[in-house]
Amino acid sequence: MERLARADAKEWTPLLSAATAARANAYAPYSKYAVGAALLCDDGTIVAACNVENASYGGAICAERSAVVAAVAAGKRTFVACVVVTQSDPAGSPCGFCRQVLKEFAQDMPILLVSATSGARRIVRLAELLPDAFGPNDLAPRR
Ligand code: THU
Repeated sequence: MERLARADAKEWTPLLSAATAARANAYAPYSKYAVGAALLCDDGTIVAACNVENASYGGAICAERSAVVAAVAAGKRTFVACVVVTQSDPAGSPCGFCRQVLKEFAQDMPILLVSATSGARRIVRLAELLPDAFGPNDLAPRR
């Protein structure tokens, strides 16, 4: 997915549309901070989700982790790109928990961060957001 190295590549369009549509369903009555995330799976499937908050605040789940959960439930376990749409300008970046959870199912991937307020875009990479990460390979049996 070399084309996805550029923030303005047209290949991002379906992912951005899916993340934006999911963001419209965000359940964020406490923070009022709506987030949409979309994952591109290795078979070309797109899975999108939003943040879902809770009256017991700690029960909230971010859009990125919701998308991972939805994708895994649909049988998808390898992700190759991600879009996150927030209202921040510049666009917000995934929280630490989400970085770790994304790492479980992606070696490295471009993540397009988009501001719903200004439309400003930037690309970060998962490996740059979570350097020297602990991951599934660390638990693999020694050979
Ligand atoms: N949130 C996300 O969904 N993704 C992020 O990367 C950062 C934060 C959500 C969690 C909570 O519902 C709200 O945004 C404010 O933190």
